[in-house]
Amino acid sequence: MRCLVVADLHYSLPQFDWLVSAAPHFDLVVIAGDALDIGSIVDFRAQIVVVRKYLELLAGKTRIILCSGNHDLDERDEAGEKISKWIAALDDLHVAHDGESLTVGDIVFTICPWWDGPRVKEQIGKQLEDAAHAPHPSRWIWVHHAPALNSPTSWGGKRSFGDAELVQWIAAYQPDMVLSGHVHQSPFVKDGSWYDRLGKTWVFNVGQQMGRPPTHIMMDLDQNKAYWFSAYGEQSIDLDQPLHRPAQDITSVPDWLIAVSRATAPAPGPSPEMVPIPSG
Ligand SMILES: [Fe+2]
Repeated sequence: MRCLVVADLHYSLPQFDWLVSAAPHFDLVVIAGDALDIGSIVDFRAQIVVVRKYLELLAGKTRIILCSGNHDLDERDEAGEKISKWIAALDDLHVAHDGESLTVGDIVFTICPWWDGPRVKEQIGKQLEDAAHAPHPSRWIWVHHAPALNSPTSWGGKRSFGDAELVQWIAAYQPDMVLSGHVHQSPFVKDGSWYDRLGKTWVFNVGQQMGRPPTHIMMDLDQNKAYWFSAYGEQSIDLDQPLHRPAQDITSVPDWLIAVSRATAPAPGPSPEMVPIPSG
């Protein structure tokens, strides 16, 4: 099972275009939050219309998972907490989203919303508790925009921007993996990283860069390998091995990865900028 993970596209249409070209090569594409950008000059309602079109295109090519991030919140609920109503309304597009689980082969993916207050936080706790008690195929992977607190995957250079609740949920339920984004610079700064391990749980933060392609992780979940691609470099880790730093630079590339690279090669033009945009 091959899985492509991106996050924090922040309404970058060149990055969505790249995703459309890459999607057919994967059994699953995970967008781990912040599909939209609240700071964009483009009206939020227009962003929703455009991103829904991209999601429709993507869902016609492979399975898609989308969780909300802090830039995806378009409404407040009755308790006054910010929520992502447009993501909750994606049922018609066959996009697995906030509050749902998706089973692919022997793996269950549980998709968590961004939480802005106690009500949604409690919902996530219940969602994870229910999923933990459901009959499980062999592996359990969560999609949760914010990474874990005090992990290199949430290190911003001066402090951690991670989620303390997530650390407790991981300790309680010990999923096999958590896929995140949110702290754009973590993979690029000293003492930061795109991967970490909390107990038995592998945790990831894809990172963020400008332009096409977005930073991305390609996972071969049959071979248990994760490959991270960015303008900073290309690295891989073996998920069957204990946590080890630094990650290996990719020296031998599997044929399927070469095929993906060829199919998604950027058009001639400037390289992606190396400077990640700030957290959020
Ligand atoms: Fe973000």
